[in-house]
Amino acid sequence: MKNYLRATFEATANIAVVKYWGKRDEKLILPTNSNLSFTMDDKLKTRTTVVFSEDFKEDELYLNGQKIDLNDQSASERMIQLDLVRKSAGFNHKARVASINCFPTAAGFASSASGMAALACSSATAANLKLSNKELSILARRGSGSACRSVLGGFVQWHRGKNEDGSDSYASEIFPASHWKELVNVIAVVDSEKKKTSSRSGMKQTILTSKLFEKRLQTINETIEDTIRAVEKRDFESFAKLIIKESNNMHAVMLDTYPPIMYLNDNSRKVIDKIIELNENKGKMIAGYTFDAGPNAHVYTIENNLEVVKETLKEIPGVKELIVCRIGNGPKQLTNESEHLLTVEGKVKDMFFDEKTKSIISR
Ligand code: DP6
Repeated sequence: MKNYLRATFEATANIAVVKYWGKRDEKLILPTNSNLSFTMDDKLKTRTTVVFSEDFKEDELYLNGQKIDLNDQSASERMIQLDLVRKSAGFNHKARVASINCFPTAAGFASSASGMAALACSSATAANLKLSNKELSILARRGSGSACRSVLGGFVQWHRGKNEDGSDSYASEIFPASHWKELVNVIAVVDSEKKKTSSRSGMKQTILTSKLFEKRLQTINETIEDTIRAVEKRDFESFAKLIIKESNNMHAVMLDTYPPIMYLNDNSRKVIDKIIELNENKGKMIAGYTFDAGPNAHVYTIENNLEVVKETLKEIPGVKELIVCRIGNGPKQLTNESEHLLTVEGKVKDMFFDEKTKSIISR
């Protein structure tokens, strides 16, 4: 075996249209319900390099150039993927991991999905494991639930699964990115403070306290079927209505949680009002919003209506920036020496995300 095992991947964020909110197993990260998302293009991506070596004394993680303390529980929890990879590969080498998020810093986005998907792909490949998409998805899921969807491109379903060991809870592609090329996600970044409740603790609290949550689970499979049908037919009218109602449903459940969880703020509500008004004025659905565990709006629309949707969002006071994402193809391996974030011996290179050129460059 070589002394140093290295691989680098980029993975992108995904934005759910039927949400994952609630775990049936917290340790294995198994969801209470199946859910659906689109994988984004590389406007929102994470690049990760992993090097395994028997020369390393301990695991080390460098995020955006900063060394992260792996004694911190929330950081170490997410590095469980490294142990799983070592177990499958049959070695005990420690790892050095470097990761850079290529997200506009002002946006305050959670990057766990792209980050954990990039870690799954790069650690498995560095260790020479030849994993199927299903196995890769299960590995990414252990880092963060929504990450299991980012190992695939296009329109993706994370299957709830029934098995207690999580072996049937993974994501698969329903339609490739090419199926609905006209679909666009305009992200309206709004003014906000740092989020108060992590989705991990929020969903736990929902399960413990919300009665409305049980009702949500009774109808969610029907919502999934309807949404898949709308996407299959590229029926934007039905799609937009379904995703608006589904996002509202999840946020209603969050509000029904005790203590209540409120991710939307006044600016988010302004976006909601404007989108409803825009659709009414046009006499048809030309935009549909969805919100995750934060105040930024994801407004899905189709290419022909992109300009009018952008104009509408720009007029809203409190909307700071618009990011236009198209549907992406999933993770990509990088093999050029200049693209790796670590040298072949695992030395951290001085590289960073340059907001002007929107690329990762060396200092
Ligand atoms: C609201 O995947 O971040 O974005 O599994 O605890 O890491 P953990 O949670 P995470 O939750 C994402 C929740 C959501 C909805 C979604 O993406 O489906």
